[in-house]
Amino acid sequence: MARAARDVAKEVKRLRAEIQAHNARYYVLDAPTIADAEYDALFRRLQALEEAHPAHRTADSPTQRVGAKPLEKFGTVRHRHPMLSLANVTTPEEMAEFDARARKFLGLARIEYVGEPKVDGVAVELVYERGRLTAASTRGDGTTGEDITQNVRTIRSVPLRLQDGGRVPKLLEVRGEVFLPIAAFRRLNREREEAGQAPFANPRNAAAGSLKQLDPGVTAARPLDLVCHGAGEVVGLEAKTHWDMLQAFARLGLKPVPKSRVLEKLEEVTLFFAALDGERDRLPYEVDGLVVKVNDFGLQRRLGEISRSPRWAVAYKFKPRQAVTRIERIVASVGRTGVLTPVAELEPVPVGGVTVRNASLHNMDEIARKDIRIGDHVLLERAGDVIPYVVKVLEEKRTGAEKRFRMPKHCPVCGAEVVRAEGEVAYRCVGLSCPAQLKQSVRFFAARGAMDVEGLGEKLVDQLVEQGLVKDLADLYRLEEEPLVALERMGKKSAANLTAQLERSKQTTLPRFLIALGIRQVGEATAKALAEHFGTLERTMNASEEELQEVRDVGPEVAASIRRFFAERQNRKVIQRLLDAGVKPAAVTRPKGPLVGKKFVLTGGLDSMTRPEAQRRIEALGGRLVASVSKETDYVVAGAEPGSKLAKAEKLGVAVLDEKKFLRLLGG
Ligand code: IVH
Repeated sequence: MARAARDVAKEVKRLRAEIQAHNARYYVLDAPTIADAEYDALFRRLQALEEAHPAHRTADSPTQRVGAKPLEKFGTVRHRHPMLSLANVTTPEEMAEFDARARKFLGLARIEYVGEPKVDGVAVELVYERGRLTAASTRGDGTTGEDITQNVRTIRSVPLRLQDGGRVPKLLEVRGEVFLPIAAFRRLNREREEAGQAPFANPRNAAAGSLKQLDPGVTAARPLDLVCHGAGEVVGLEAKTHWDMLQAFARLGLKPVPKSRVLEKLEEVTLFFAALDGERDRLPYEVDGLVVKVNDFGLQRRLGEISRSPRWAVAYKFKPRQAVTRIERIVASVGRTGVLTPVAELEPVPVGGVTVRNASLHNMDEIARKDIRIGDHVLLERAGDVIPYVVKVLEEKRTGAEKRFRMPKHCPVCGAEVVRAEGEVAYRCVGLSCPAQLKQSVRFFAARGAMDVEGLGEKLVDQLVEQGLVKDLADLYRLEEEPLVALERMGKKSAANLTAQLERSKQTTLPRFLIALGIRQVGEATAKALAEHFGTLERTMNASEEELQEVRDVGPEVAASIRRFFAERQNRKVIQRLLDAGVKPAAVTRPKGPLVGKKFVLTGGLDSMTRPEAQRRIEALGGRLVASVSKETDYVVAGAEPGSKLAKAEKLGVAVLDEKKFLRLLGG
């Protein structure tokens, strides 16, 4: 091997080992030793090296977690040893019986156990051959599961290679629980509600749904985690007890179930169970009980199993946090993005030690699916510190006096119109100065690409709104330095900077102003198209739905959304106030030039200019660059090594220009 190649190989190997060690410290031990930025730098260096030297790229490199192609369907995997399930006990008496039975069978006065929190997730099996992760599967029916290798590879706490520090076993089938932390679960559901998708009922369903994605890119975007609690086939790992095995897992870089411990006898089991139950609400993930396992492997073997459950382990379950209560009212609560969420007001009821008064019903589809009505008796469940949710309606308790809920036509906070966009589950308030959404509207208004007011960050916006200094967008332009200086983390200088920035922002363009208003479905491209079509703000505001649909890329839905926004009196008032304050959205002159209305597609590289440059030059002459070839395309410009777009152009009979002809068209 040449010297240079040898150096690359060495560097790649060194970087990988270093990154793997940092991964383990961060995701498994929760004790990072470098800053995120330093880690990112290492990661990028490895990425760059692998890109420049693809021969050195291997599947177990930390850079290769994501990026696998979506599957058509999952394959199946047969587990070498069946994945058993656990018998449940729910009372101290039942737990004592389990212990007495096992002691009697073994003829022992006392049994040592390991207690592990029962993390509520999805059981998986990971196969490591000579330290490399080669397969991962779901439990399935215990005998065969689904092949979810691609998805499991995206989980940060799953080592793609076991750590070399200790000896790596020849074969290790490790079993554990994939779960979604509660905070991530809530975030995910919020995003789903805002996108009009059905929320997940609990973190376990969310984890299962995330693992069953055919596209690993979707799984990668969910912060799943893995904790390990057992093994299938093992070759080359010495352990006489379950506890020893957990310690070996940790040395290999696998995370054992946190808070597990050795319990010397039944009394300690009882104490630990109570302590864990007390801590349950403060844990960052869902735990529904304590798994109690006989520690000694020899004793485990002697106890064996019956009907798919081991006789050496049991799940000691916490009380379910469920209760029955009645829905007194259903109200619409307006979120920070303007989405109206139906919330059930309940007859107060204790659920797992907390009095519950409200439950989110998520959206109208969810209400319809569960057929929830005002006055219904419902079964509630509370998961961790998660807002309680309605499991089901107790139909047998209906009296006939129950009423269906209708979404209000006007926002309960500001009175603006409430609309449901076509194809969306969510209902939204269109009020630009709706107090429920004001912080978000202000942030959006000031963002880069919109009014571009530097220094108007999230914290400051919160303060301005909370202290009543900004009640609608136009108030921003009435801010004076003095009250600003009184705000947290605001000096004289930054207050002066902010007012100067605001002053500067008044000179804006029509597209930017349209973006800043935060009209649903109006992004950069649409704003630009609207501005070019109508020229002035006034004409845009007064355009009818039909006129709006004449604008390129504006379909009936977008047209309706724009029309509704400008029809709202509250919004017209705020816009007028903005104009009165001196905001000047400069009218746009329609593009002129020989290429007006012409659509271009670029494929392959050009020698004489970069892609953005080509776009600029096309646009300067009135043309447009679009992404894909269709019958509407006027020209396909084919540079060096053109892609499939060229073939498509030829098939559709679209004119194809080589670089020389393209340059001639641009005028040299
Ligand atoms: S041991 C033979 N340990 O509970 C032992 N299971 O009903 C089988 N679970 O499918 C499992 N935490 O998904 C074990 N610390 C833990 C666990 C645990 C959660 C789940 C697992 C299993 C189910 C058993």
